[in-house]
Amino acid sequence: MIIAIDGPAASGKGTLSRRLADWYHIPHLDTGLTFRAVAKSMLDAAIPLDDETQAAKAARNIDLSRLDKAVLSDHAIGEAASRIAVMPGVRKALLDIQRKFANQPGGAVLDGRDIGTVVCPKADAKLYVTASPVARARRRTDEITERGGTASFNTILEDVRKRDERDSFRSVAPLRPAEDAHLLDTTELDIETAFQEAVDLIERALKS
Ligand code: C5P
Repeated sequence: MIIAIDGPAASGKGTLSRRLADWYHIPHLDTGLTFRAVAKSMLDAAIPLDDETQAAKAARNIDLSRLDKAVLSDHAIGEAASRIAVMPGVRKALLDIQRKFANQPGGAVLDGRDIGTVVCPKADAKLYVTASPVARARRRTDEITERGGTASFNTILEDVRKRDERDSFRSVAPLRPAEDAHLLDTTELDIETAFQEAVDLIERALKS
């Protein structure tokens, strides 16, 4: 069983995907972390982010067992990730790794921007999780302050909007709902209600 979860930054798709993977007892891959890992290796090696050859090489060397969410969650790494994510060479290398993960026996939950449209177009259930930019910026700001960092809501809101635009208007694998995806707007939902709705939508998709 393959469950594809897509949506913009801070829509709640990551938390939902982890809960769904627990619920269905299948492994989960946050594909955003794969783009973040490529961006971090470029930043660490002081390689310019527009060097596609080096970025594609870094993408081919990503080791899924070594993705450290705590380290990769940094806001600046997310921004850099969305810049290298426009590169076809990077996407091609990561696509192979992501598809292999999806096709393991028993299936998996994958979340990202293009899971239902490109990585797993034949997924058994597809959700497109969204929320208003203001709600997403609020969540991101709270997340950062809860971890002990400092964040300006207005700066984060601007970044969220910029990231949406970059992710939605790139030519390769842009952020958009698959035609057969079920929409889940979490603007007004707490995580528990969002999870229940997600399970209902997936159960319906699996039956049809
Ligand atoms: O989801 P997250 O914020 O961790 O993703 C970081 C960036 O990686 C996104 O802004 C997007 O540009 C890119 N990404 C992507 N395709 C995916 C997952 C993430 O292009 N499937």
